Amino acid sequence: MSEFSSQAIKENLQTITIGSEIHYFDEVESTNDIAKSLAEKGAKDGEVVIAERQRKGKGRLGRVWHSPPGGIWLSIILKPEITPSDAPKITLLAGVAVARTINEMCYLNVKLKWPNDILFNEKKAGGILTEMHAEVGKVNYVIVGIGINANLDIVSFQGELQTTATTLKHELKKDIDRNKFVQRLLMEFENEYSSFLNDNFASTVKKWKTLSGTLGRKVRITTAAEIIQGIALDIDKDGALLVKNNGIKRVLAGECVHLSET
Ligand code: BTN
Repeated sequence: MSEFSSQAIKENLQTITIGSEIHYFDEVESTNDIAKSLAEKGAKDGEVVIAERQRKGKGRLGRVWHSPPGGIWLSIILKPEITPSDAPKITLLAGVAVARTINEMCYLNVKLKWPNDILFNEKKAGGILTEMHAEVGKVNYVIVGIGINANLDIVSFQGELQTTATTLKHELKKDIDRNKFVQRLLMEFENEYSSFLNDNFASTVKKWKTLSGTLGRKVRITTAAEIIQGIALDIDKDGALLVKNNGIKRVLAGECVHLSET
């Protein structure tokens, strides 16, 4: 398996801020936790934490994220001057960056499940965990955790993951070059992030829609307040999902399940 190297990633990395500093670890509990403590200690916007393996990788909703060697487990530290209500947009722009990188570098056709899943043929190939530290009206920092099942064998998965998840290696029947992949991912991320900072999130929304595996489907969304079942019609200018049931519900955050075929 190819070795990760922060030097190889930085070579020819054509970004300005994202990846300006790459903190590489062989093993950590969670790259998001390392990124948080670096952010607290003054790390700059765009610094990246990567690990070969996570002992306590974190998924959404308190789930464990299986993170053996061979995957891509990274976190990006962001310090944008935005209000907390704009932070969910960062998950969507990260999804666009991940999906474009996979599709362009691996010639696959992954799709995005709103808000944060990377799917190949409905199986999970990756996910995004965005965590934020904010005060009223002010974001101190955002950590975007990206997990991609890259050079992993499905047999390394346990339990139901064997049928619900997939890996790039399994689909391609070969390993990918993770250094080149991360390089491209950071470039795609910077592109979407700077559009967002320049008030052009609309361009990300447009790309998200073309990569969507959710729109047009019957979905069930579980939010903190309720369960909504209906047809996923669209995402709006803020990235909220519009679901048609009796009327049209606008959902800003929640857990989405696809109930119907495409
Ligand atoms: C999900 O789909 O539930 C989100 C998974 C996010 C996993 C990544 S791996 C790198 C970063 N560090 C973590 O502990 N989690 C995220």
